[in-house]
Amino acid sequence: MVGIKDVARHAGVSVGTVSNVINRPDSVAADTRQRVQAVIAELGYVRSEHARQLRAGHSRIMGLLVLDMGNPFFVDIARGAERTARRAGLGVMVCNSNQSAREEAEYLALFAEQRVRGVLLTPADDSGQTVQSLRRNAIPFVLVDRVGAGGGGCSVSVDDVVGGTLAVRHLLDAGHRNIAYVSGPSHLHQIRDRRAGALAVLAESGLGSEALTELPTETLDVAAGRDAGARLLGLPHRPTAVFCANDLLALGMLQALFAAGLNVPRDIAIVGYDDIEFASAAAVPLTSVRQPAAAMGRLAAEMLLEETDGAGEHQHRQVVLQPELVVRRSTLVGRP
Ligand code: RIB
Repeated sequence: MVGIKDVARHAGVSVGTVSNVINRPDSVAADTRQRVQAVIAELGYVRSEHARQLRAGHSRIMGLLVLDMGNPFFVDIARGAERTARRAGLGVMVCNSNQSAREEAEYLALFAEQRVRGVLLTPADDSGQTVQSLRRNAIPFVLVDRVGAGGGGCSVSVDDVVGGTLAVRHLLDAGHRNIAYVSGPSHLHQIRDRRAGALAVLAESGLGSEALTELPTETLDVAAGRDAGARLLGLPHRPTAVFCANDLLALGMLQALFAAGLNVPRDIAIVGYDDIEFASAAAVPLTSVRQPAAAMGRLAAEMLLEETDGAGEHQHRQVVLQPELVVRRSTLVGRP
């Protein structure tokens, strides 16, 4: 393994000069810089990132722990975070907790071993164990898609209660009074908030919770949406509209209703959540509550860089963005 001392000896300069050529090239005279760079290329010297981390005290890697790598919502978050990290000269190490608190803990330990600059993550549950583990390991973090426990760290999220009200108010305005809510695991804060928003707007409209039939699911993917569709079709008083806690559930619901020979939206209207790319590309374009996922990823990465750039005092903040209803054919009867 070629070391920095080998380069210095071959170039006839000090180790400090080689270090300056690598880290502060403008501080070295052009002829010396070019001679050292030629020796680096000739010997194939590669800077030891681990050694640099030990000296600099922090890594050029940002950890990103997503809840479900199969959900395009998190791909959009990762895309926003990665572009921001890259502009700051960092890379992003993406790991998938797969909605498992155990797997989440294993990846947080890996990030700590790797001494990453910090971690962006959507916690796998609401227990608070995650944040305690990050604090215990003194790992800077930004919670994504979850409102942070104030004072303990930054967070970027969307107001999911508003999101639930937007979805169900749209269905009420279209005349629906018997609505199903295909929810996800109740230990996810965002799923509970969407339900709370749905119930709030029913109450505002003088409708009780009986106007909302909940079809819980264990996961938030297309297969769970298909399964919920089968259960919905078996209900004695079949709802005329469905609010799904995310777009993957809505796409599975769409598949199940098609397979049963039903027309969307004429027989049953569907609203999803996230507005992933496949929502607009679906056979019946999905009405969805849009989350600005890429912007969430960018903002979370910016907050982590600000906290860890060593430039001075950092004030934790909890940013809550607003969702937006994107209306498409899956809820509009009688319009192209
Ligand atoms: O991770 C499950 C869901 O919660 C995602 O689809 C997204 O809506 C997030 O908020």
